Amino acid sequence: MYINVQNLTKHFKIKVRDKGLVNAIKAFVKPKYRTIKAVDNISFGIEKGEILGFIGPNGAGKSTTIKMLCGIMQPDSGTCVVGNINPFKNRKEYVANIGVVFGQKSQLWWDIPVIESFELLKAIYKIPEEKYEKTKQQLITKLNLQDLLDVPVRQLSLGQRMRCELAAALLHDPDILFLDEPTIGLDAVSKVQLREFIKELNKEKKTTIILTTHDMTDIEELASRVVVIGKGKLLYDGSLNKIKSKFQSTKKLEIIFKNLKAAPKIESKIIEKDNKKVLIEVDTKKESISSIIEKYSRVCQIEDVNIHENNIDNIILEMYKEYEL
Ligand SMILES: Nc1ncnc2c1ncn2[C@@H]1O[C@H](COP(=O)(O)OP(=O)(O)OP(=O)(O)O)[C@@H](O)[C@H]1O
Ligand SMILES: [Mg+2]
Repeated sequence: MYINVQNLTKHFKIKVRDKGLVNAIKAFVKPKYRTIKAVDNISFGIEKGEILGFIGPNGAGKSTTIKMLCGIMQPDSGTCVVGNINPFKNRKEYVANIGVVFGQKSQLWWDIPVIESFELLKAIYKIPEEKYEKTKQQLITKLNLQDLLDVPVRQLSLGQRMRCELAAALLHDPDILFLDEPTIGLDAVSKVQLREFIKELNKEKKTTIILTTHDMTDIEELASRVVVIGKGKLLYDGSLNKIKSKFQSTKKLEIIFKNLKAAPKIESKIIEKDNKKVLIEVDTKKESISSIIEKYSRVCQIEDVNIHENNIDNIILEMYKEYEL
């Protein structure tokens, strides 16, 4: 296992204050605290070269986990080992090996042109001149940054900035890339381009990628495996397909036919019907699609069959509902 996370836990103590002036004064004299378990005893592993989708609703603890894996935040308990490195103890060695993009927060210097941020990163990471030039040129071409290099970061659009953030995170050619909501706020075209870039990076350089996102298309396109957390706890670790089959119990089946003699007896609910077609909501745990088609085939001539599956957003919603998130 390349990245090994064991029993990782992080609590936050937050000040609580009741309403009203008197309570405000009381809180000032003797503050009251409440502890929230942002990350609660989670364990998982990641293989080298894998793209892991890390998902869960708002406030689940995703960013907190990523911060601990990056070594930015110290866990209260539990361990995280990357390669053979401990991110907190061997911080210097570790940062040379990782790249980080937080979609919500820029990692670049706000007031200076993009290219100067790149130069600063070159100095910080002590990237050799030749290697820097080569990687920089590759990233400029792949991410189409040519016209953005002289622009101060604050003047960039969100999509332009995200491309620069990615380049900045990859200038020192890290083995691991942490992406916390890299597609947030991007238009459809930019999202597609960014996904293509990530796919290619993973394929060509075998970069290990940990991706959090609320866009389930990102996950479908990029991640073979997902880890789902909610209220700080790990809820699921496995393939996206398994989630689909577990939480996608109902499918819509449309059968288009000719010469229906008499409707066959089925258990599933018929939503619509006329003399040419029927639309059925099938609970696949109770009745199989194939058995319904077989029953219809005995009493009519089937011309076409369409199966409509629930989209992945709805499946994830069902999953969150089941876990009461
Ligand atoms: N620095 C902090 N101080 C206090 N509480 C915090 C801090 N950072 C996060 N939290 C709390 O920890 C919990 C987990 O937050 P986190 O940012 O990890 O969630 P998330 O899964 O990334 O959510 P989102 O999808 O909204 O980005 C939340 O309840 C949040 O309010
Ligand atoms: Mg977050």
